[in-house]
Amino acid sequence: MRMDRRVPRPAELAPLLKFKRFEPNGRTRRLAKAHTIADLRAIARRRTPQGPFDYTDGAAEEELSLGRARRAFREIEFHPAILRDVSHVDPSVEILGGRSSMPFGIAPVGFTRMMHAEGERAGASAAAAAGIPFSLSTLGTTSPEGVRDANPHGRNWFQLYMQKDRDKSMELMNRAAAAGFDTLLITVDVPVAGARLRDHYNGFSIPPQLGLKTVLNALPRPEWWFNFLTTEPLAFASLTEWDGTIGELLDALFDPTVDFDDLAWLRDQWPGKVAVKGIQTLDDARRVVDLGVDGIVLSNHGGRQLDRAPVPFHLLPSVAAELGDRTEIVLDTGIMSGADVVAALACGADFTLVGRAYLYGLMAGGREGADRAIEILSGQVVRTMKLLGVSSVAELNPGHVTQLRQMMPVGAPAPARTATRRP
Ligand SMILES: Cc1cc2nc3c(=O)[nH]c(=O)nc-3n(C[C@H](O)[C@H](O)[C@H](O)COP(=O)(O)O)c2cc1C
Repeated sequence: MRMDRRVPRPAELAPLLKFKRFEPNGRTRRLAKAHTIADLRAIARRRTPQGPFDYTDGAAEEELSLGRARRAFREIEFHPAILRDVSHVDPSVEILGGRSSMPFGIAPVGFTRMMHAEGERAGASAAAAAGIPFSLSTLGTTSPEGVRDANPHGRNWFQLYMQKDRDKSMELMNRAAAAGFDTLLITVDVPVAGARLRDHYNGFSIPPQLGLKTVLNALPRPEWWFNFLTTEPLAFASLTEWDGTIGELLDALFDPTVDFDDLAWLRDQWPGKVAVKGIQTLDDARRVVDLGVDGIVLSNHGGRQLDRAPVPFHLLPSVAAELGDRTEIVLDTGIMSGADVVAALACGADFTLVGRAYLYGLMAGGREGADRAIEILSGQVVRTMKLLGVSSVAELNPGHVTQLRQMMPVGAPAPARTATRRP
């Protein structure tokens, strides 16, 4: 079709020419371009040496557990309600004796200062700014007091691994209690370390060693190395150097004999709330709740322990149906979006924890990156709630989510096929 054309007038062009103000800070510029956790992961990968990146990003064996957990969240359908007033949405929740402004907190992760030199201080101060809990791992690279100083008014949780040297475990735990940590997470899914094969292939050790491969890999990532070499050396309790993989370190340190009696004893050593992290069957959930703990964390450790372990999101409905009114249920593993958080809440979780989603942000840009990760997840939580037509977390219910069947566990062996096999 023929169109009548004319020469545009300068006055018409002017309003169309809008140049964004140049952001001189490279970190801020980079982070502003990230709109999903996957975007942060891509930045993190470019900026972090392969050893620490793979330690974080990777999981155990063939990494099936992690892949399945993420896939499970994608294989759902949301059922929104229309014509609801969602002008004000309150995503805050009450969890383990305190408030959280968002229905997720930061999961305990070890060796955080290896992912980014700002480490736990960045995570704890980002959590403080957002009003969500921060969890410090037994394998943290910042002391409980350091975390308290970074998050002096907010909530800090301490994660305990029982070491063979019990006195050392109790000493660290008591320091956390004295520093005002309000909740103890007892992790029970590491009788031995899972096989994190990427660490073997990378020859990853603590601290990372400078072999030829590492040096070549370091060249395009100078900022990480500069930060790493010019800040306080990594230290974990009395250990500063370990010549094997992190998995081998866990096996040397942790006590594989810990049982339910130890759990009952531990429960009484902590003055605040206690939750058990790493519950993977309904039966174990029952046993732990019967011991009188305050909460359970359905988790397979981000797929880093038993590969092909149950997907926590699949386990959730049965645990919530039977134990939901006797305990608080926290869920982690595989959360990469605020929509995943909302799906978990709708299916019966009271709260969620994010591990890698936060670490990708941290690796992408230290404190600012952690802020950005929390901001992205929070935006997604609120938007998903509004689009579902709910204005508070209490309104979320299983009717909002259908799990699509493809990967759902079948309780019993599949029925015999009617078609006969050819001889
Ligand atoms: C790099 C890394 C280190 C971790 N270290 C610990 C730890 O020291 N203690 C612990 O209880 N869980 C640890 N976890 C597991 C997390 O607490 C959490 O269960 C898991 O990351 C949740 O899965 P997600 O990464 O998909 O969110 C670690 C996870 C990652 C990714």
